[in-house]
Amino acid sequence: MHNSPNSLAFNDGWQYAPAPESTDHISLEKQFDLFIGGKFVAPEEGRYFETINPATEEQIASVGLATQTDVDRAVKAARKAFAGPWSKMKAAERGKYIYRIARMLQERSREFAVIESLDGGKPIRESRDIDIPLAAAHFFYYAGWADKLEYAFPGRNVAALGVAGQIIPWNFPLLMAAWKIAPALACGNTVVLKPAESTPLTALKLAEIVQEAGLPPGVVNIVTGAGETGAAIVNHADVDKVAFTGSTEVGRIIQRALAGTSKKYTLELGGKAANIIFADAAIDQAVEGIVNGIFFNQGHVCCAGSRLFVQESAVDEVVRKLKDRMETLIIGDPLDKNTDIGAINSAGQLETIESYLSLGREEGAEMYQSSCAVPERGYWCRPTIFTGVSQSNRIVQEEIFGPVLAIQTFRTLEEGLSKANNTPYGLSGGVWTDKGAKIFKMTQKLRAGVVWANTFNKFDPTSPFGGYKESGVGREGGLHGLDAYLKLEAR
Ligand code: NAI
Ligand code: MG
Repeated sequence: MHNSPNSLAFNDGWQYAPAPESTDHISLEKQFDLFIGGKFVAPEEGRYFETINPATEEQIASVGLATQTDVDRAVKAARKAFAGPWSKMKAAERGKYIYRIARMLQERSREFAVIESLDGGKPIRESRDIDIPLAAAHFFYYAGWADKLEYAFPGRNVAALGVAGQIIPWNFPLLMAAWKIAPALACGNTVVLKPAESTPLTALKLAEIVQEAGLPPGVVNIVTGAGETGAAIVNHADVDKVAFTGSTEVGRIIQRALAGTSKKYTLELGGKAANIIFADAAIDQAVEGIVNGIFFNQGHVCCAGSRLFVQESAVDEVVRKLKDRMETLIIGDPLDKNTDIGAINSAGQLETIESYLSLGREEGAEMYQSSCAVPERGYWCRPTIFTGVSQSNRIVQEEIFGPVLAIQTFRTLEEGLSKANNTPYGLSGGVWTDKGAKIFKMTQKLRAGVVWANTFNKFDPTSPFGGYKESGVGREGGLHGLDAYLKLEAR
């Protein structure tokens, strides 16, 4: 059964009984329209596309395909709401609406968690314990800022930008919507948001909450579609700000499109984070951190710890313990509460990941995968590590966005640091050591927006997030996240 002689014996021969989360408490329409001007409206051309469950390949619902005309309607609705009720409203009132969204999201969290797992393939444990609570936390946090913006930027005049166009990816669908919408509204803007084409459902469910919460029509508009719909938002002349999270490739297209315009923008792009383990670290904890860093959410995480650097004297122990731990990871039904690793988000993403697995072997690296069984239908990738890699390998340099880890070693702190910084990206990193001084040295010199010490993948709405180099432009979250949605002027 196991291809590792070190597999934990206690895991041989038995499995946890399935513990699926029930789906009978959710109601999902078969067809979703666009949410424009406070109403669900049919797309202009009457075209719809399917979103599927990547764990079963079954269709879940069809979703409106927004054309340029639909995007224009949404921007007009957002402009009207901005010029009308939203900018005239007292800031404290604006805050109340955002608090209301946060509370309604909490009340419906179970339903949202199930829909997130159905539509995107992530384990229910993550959508239930991370995505949905964090999304609500972002609305709570930014609601509190709505009437305190002068205190956030003392001595300066603050004003909303106007209409924000927001485009988000499929890895944290509701959470990314919250990251984008909450600060925009708190700062007095109105929004047109486009979720990713493979995971549009929780954003559309959020539109229902926006409607029930009684926000003035047009303050939040949700349009669905693929890249063309996104481009129509970016290129719309009456959009004042573009916020994008997704691939570096599309980020570049957007940056080019916006060059020379007066639109403000923030881009959260790819990553190739280094997780750096010194020999003096608590190794068992570090192994958990590696697992959390790269196998969490199938590695569909821009700040995933996809490069591991282990101090040479500890590498044998770390790799042995990591392989043992990988054997115990449960891959399968995202709705099962025991599942550690869910489905890969789409057929296309699975193809990308698999092409990197072949490439890694062609490059001469040694591949190891856990021996767990995977379901027959759906898109799956076993947790995978590569050893014997070098800095120039493409699997070390490029973002794979799957549960795939490349392992290298270092001897001195300086060598670890220079290897870790040798990447076009700079979103995040992790350092594991018993010594505070090493943590400070590393965190000062790692060229990455977020560096975790003796932990990994921890998020909080009060903390800014964003990249160096090709990982992006601007910050989201915390006080810094307000800046991106305001005009700041000297008094
Ligand atoms: P993508 O960048 O194409 O998609 C992200 C969002 O941008 C989606 O809503 C998409 O519809 C939209 N979009 C696509 N083309 C656009 C355009 N020309 N103008 C405006 N919006 C556009 O990412 P994709 O193809 O889904 O994934 C490809 C790779 O990107 C992944 O393998 C991964 O490496 C990386 N990625 C990074 C993410 C991050 O959080 N940094 C999130 C998703 C993907
Ligand atoms: Mg889907």
